[in-house]
Amino acid sequence: MKRTSLPTLLLTLLALAAQAQQRTSFQPGAVLPDNKGVHLNAHGAGAIYDHGRYYLFGEHKVAGPAGNSAQVGVHCYSSKDLYNWQDEGIALAVAPAGSGSEIEQGCILERPKVVFNKKTGQYVMWFHLELKGQGYAAARTAVAVASKPTGPYKYVRSFRPGAGQWPLGFAKSAEQPQPGEDQLKWWTPEWRQAVAGGLFVRRYFKQGQMARDMTVFVDDDGKAYNIHSSEDNLTLHVAELTNDYQGFTGRWNTIAPAGHNEAPALCKRGGKYYLITSGCTGWAPNAARSFVASSIWGPWQQLANPAVGTEADSTFRSQSTYILPVAGKKDAFLFMADRWTPKNPIDGGYIWLPLTFEGDQPRLRWADTWALGVFDQPKGVGMVKPTK
Ligand code: GAL
Repeated sequence: MKRTSLPTLLLTLLALAAQAQQRTSFQPGAVLPDNKGVHLNAHGAGAIYDHGRYYLFGEHKVAGPAGNSAQVGVHCYSSKDLYNWQDEGIALAVAPAGSGSEIEQGCILERPKVVFNKKTGQYVMWFHLELKGQGYAAARTAVAVASKPTGPYKYVRSFRPGAGQWPLGFAKSAEQPQPGEDQLKWWTPEWRQAVAGGLFVRRYFKQGQMARDMTVFVDDDGKAYNIHSSEDNLTLHVAELTNDYQGFTGRWNTIAPAGHNEAPALCKRGGKYYLITSGCTGWAPNAARSFVASSIWGPWQQLANPAVGTEADSTFRSQSTYILPVAGKKDAFLFMADRWTPKNPIDGGYIWLPLTFEGDQPRLRWADTWALGVFDQPKGVGMVKPTK
């Protein structure tokens, strides 16, 4: 028998040890180490699949309260299997403090989402931007581009979308302010009704509409949309992006007027659009909501809380951020959510669960551990032992 040399044996053992460390399942909420053993630092994340790899982009947080504003930028990781993540570094870096850049250190830069534009060959990153020192008042959505998925992304500009454009679903009569609408007392039924009827849309018609929590969705026909919480987070807006995905065409519409939705995440299945959102309770979790529509422009029908079981009323103590189609599997979607820890933001956890459907109703069920094989099971067999 051929004798194996000591160095070869050692190399084999090392390779085996490395393999043994390879993850083969998800553990929602547990520490998620990258290839260097460091918990992923990609909060409010989005992801894409590109040339055989997934790329994950999220807010790089630092320890302590300063971590709730952008000190570093957007962190990128890549993975072949969604379980094992390689650190790809900072994809979009904040500009130095005092530089006067819109994305200078200390601004608020949240929920980055990257999409690939086939026409330009560019990777386009959108995110929610709040200008430094203004709290959450600026309410802008901003764009950066790169020629490689991992970056470096170059900042382009920020927007208040919809300036000078009425939503597609607006009746001509809704363009006229109603007498006394600006004096209505907040949170009264009359005020809510006025909001649903376009109070904020009229107020910000010239300046452009507010844009906070957001996602980007690319449809089968290559058209892309920026979906964001607007109107003081009371109404979601969906706005079509230009062919290069770096600006707005001016076509937009409202979703769930006065419904108070944040954290939008969207997917398409069987020709229908599904939207998962949260209510508006800041960093504290609440019960998710779900919607379905046959056209991205609506009408959107509200469904039930997609989460079921223990802790469904807090979406398993998390808030939606993205729905990632799993490559190579039909109608397989990874629901991605954040378990925020605002006192020490760097500790924030990731709740990644399979998104399944019961008829039109999206469903989220807790599992302590699960693997992508659940998507290959016959309908109804699904989950790896739900434990909660
Ligand atoms: C959440 C929102 C986060 C962040 C936070 C600030 O509701 O989804 O992205 O903006 O509020 O309080």
